[in-house]
Amino acid sequence: MKNNWEPKIVAFLCHWCSYAGADLAGISRIQYPPNIRVIRVPCSGAVNPLYILKALREGADGVLVSGCHPGDCHYLSGNYFARRKFFILHELLQWVGIEKDRVQFSWVSASEGQKFSQVVEETVEKVKKLGPAKKLVKEFTFHV
Ligand code: FES
Repeated sequence: MKNNWEPKIVAFLCHWCSYAGADLAGISRIQYPPNIRVIRVPCSGAVNPLYILKALREGADGVLVSGCHPGDCHYLSGNYFARRKFFILHELLQWVGIEKDRVQFSWVSASEGQKFSQVVEETVEKVKKLGPAKKLVKEFTFHV
């Protein structure tokens, strides 16, 4: 049964770079695993770490955040703030027992369709090795 399992990964992609990189991968017919569910954001710095925790809580097995390369952020320093926030989030995740490989960060520019594909493949492989995420998933119990 576990062999057929495919992880669900929420991907927050910066509109200016990584989303365009994903688009380029698509129009160039570069294949990548269909496990990601894309959410376009204006900047990687706009991704509140609570969004990541909420995705894991709502059933995502992994989260990918991808933005412009350092120095290329359209809002100048959004990706630097993102890098700091996500470094701290990784520490927090490990502290509460959530494998840090469930949350991946990357820089992908609009011209890097091939790199986008590789990032998605690597993220899916890492999350597959970890198996389904259960630690934060909401569980409902009904009492009669
Ligand atoms: Fe892309 Fe800030 S605009 S990371």
